Amino acid sequence: MTPAKRKKQTCPPLPAGCSPARWAAYTVLSSVLAGEELDAPEAIRHWSVVLGLSDADRRLCSAIVLNVLRNLLTLDYQIRQFTRAKASSISPSVRNLLLMIAAQRHFFDRVPVYAAVYDAVEIAKALRLPAVAVRFINAVGRRLASQEKLIYPPASNLAYHLSIRWSLPRWFVQILLGTYGESATAQLVATINDEPRAAVRVNTLRTTPQQLAEQWAASGIHAHASEYVHEALVLDSARDLAEALAHGTFREGFFYVQDEASQVVSHALDPRPGELILDLCAAPGGKATHLAELSRGLATIHATDRDSNRLAKLEENLVRLQTSAVEVKPFEDIERLAQRKAQCYDAVLVDAPCSALGTVRRHPEVRWRVSPPILPGLAATQRSLLSLAARLVRPGGRLVYATCSPLPQENHEVIETFLKSSKGFILDPPRQLSILAPSQENAIFSSWPHHPHLDGFCIAVLRRQAD
Ligand SMILES: C[S@@+](CC[C@H](N)C(=O)[O-])C[C@H]1O[C@@H](n2cnc3c(N)ncnc32)[C@H](O)[C@@H]1O
Repeated sequence: MTPAKRKKQTCPPLPAGCSPARWAAYTVLSSVLAGEELDAPEAIRHWSVVLGLSDADRRLCSAIVLNVLRNLLTLDYQIRQFTRAKASSISPSVRNLLLMIAAQRHFFDRVPVYAAVYDAVEIAKALRLPAVAVRFINAVGRRLASQEKLIYPPASNLAYHLSIRWSLPRWFVQILLGTYGESATAQLVATINDEPRAAVRVNTLRTTPQQLAEQWAASGIHAHASEYVHEALVLDSARDLAEALAHGTFREGFFYVQDEASQVVSHALDPRPGELILDLCAAPGGKATHLAELSRGLATIHATDRDSNRLAKLEENLVRLQTSAVEVKPFEDIERLAQRKAQCYDAVLVDAPCSALGTVRRHPEVRWRVSPPILPGLAATQRSLLSLAARLVRPGGRLVYATCSPLPQENHEVIETFLKSSKGFILDPPRQLSILAPSQENAIFSSWPHHPHLDGFCIAVLRRQAD
C-alpha cells in the first residue's frame, strides 16, 4: 500500500481489554499477507504512529509481525497438526490469528501465551467473525499454546523439510539446492530468519567511521567497524540503529543505512575522479551517493530512474547527505541518448529491479510476494535495461550489473543472454570485492552463500572492449 492510500484507511476501534500491540500486529499482518502492504517494516512504523503505540507495544507488534512472516510455513504446519480442516478452508482472519498465537508460543520467551489466545478471541469477536470461527480459534489456539515443541516433516524429502523448517517457499529452496548444493543451502537457510545486521555507510565526504562511532558512543549508541567494507559501521542492535536514526548525525547526513553487501556494488564499479558515470536505476540513491563518495566528490554522477516518485526520494537523500556530485536526469533524456547510441559514459550502473529475494532477512515478506511466474517478466526488464545501458558505455568503459537476488534466472541467465546478443562486451572480474566470491564457472560474483549473514547480492562487471 502506498502511504497516500494508507492515509485514507481508518482502523477499527481497539477491542476492549485487548493489547494494542496485538491489535496493531493483526492489522499489519492482515494487510501484508493480503498483498496490500508491500513493506512490512514500513507498515509497522505507520500503524504504530496511527494507533499511538508506546515503545514497548511497538516492539511487541513488530516482533509478532516479523516472527509470523519469517516463520509462516513452519507455523502453518503446526496449525495443521491440530485441525482436520483444509488450510484453504480456514479464512485469512482465522489463520492470521492462529499464526500469531503459534508465533508467540514458539518464538517469544516472556509473553504469556494464554494472553495471546485471549486477545486472539477478543479480536475475532471485534471483527464480528461467526461464533463457530471464534470457538475454533479458542480451541485450536489453546492446543497451539500448549504445544511442547515445533515439529517438522522428515528430512528424507530435503526440499520439503527445509521449506517447512526455515519457512521458505519450496520452489525457492529447490532453486537454492540446484544452485549451491545441499551443504551450502542448509547453511544459508539456517540463518535466513536471523535478525539482519544493522549496517550503515558512513558519508566519507563529511566524516570518518571513527569520528562517527565516537560521536555515537558519546550518546550511548554502540557500533563497530565492518570487517568487509572500510566505510561501513555495524550497529550493535536494532535499538542502536533506531537511536542513530533519531540522532543529529542522521539529519546532518553523516550516514546512510545500507547493507554491507550492497555497499560492495559501488566498489565494483570503481568510480574515479573526473569520470562521467550513469546510475540508470538510481532511486532512492544509496549507490549513486556512494559512487560520489568513492570518487571523493570528483566524478560526475548522472542519476535516473523510471519511477519519478522514487526520484523525489533520491533528491531528498542528496539534500540530506549534501552530495553535489550527483545530477538527477529525467529517464526520457537518458533513453534519447541511448537511441542515439551516445556511448558517452565511462561507466554505467544497472542496479536492476529484481525479486529482492536476497533481502529476505530484512524483508521477510518478500518470500511470499515472489512466485516463479513473475520471474520471466523481471528477467525481460533486466535484459532491456542492460541493453539500454550498453548503448551508453564508451569503448573501454564499464557496465556493472547488480541485483539483490540469488536466482540464476535474474543473474547468470540475464548476463549470458546479454553477452550473446551484445558484441564487444566481456566479463571483467573486479579486483576489490572482499565480500564476494566468484561463481565457479565465470566471473559473476555473489555474497551468498559465502556470507549468509549479509544480504544476497550478485554483481557482474562487463567491459566494452576498446575499438
Ligand atoms: C534495486 S532498486 C535501485 C536501488 C538504488 N540503486 C539504490 O541503491 O538506492 C531498482 C530501481 O529500478 C527502478 N526501475 C524499475 N523498473 C525500471 C525500468 N524498467 N527502468 C528503469 N528503472 C526501473 C525502480 O524504480 C527502482 O528504483
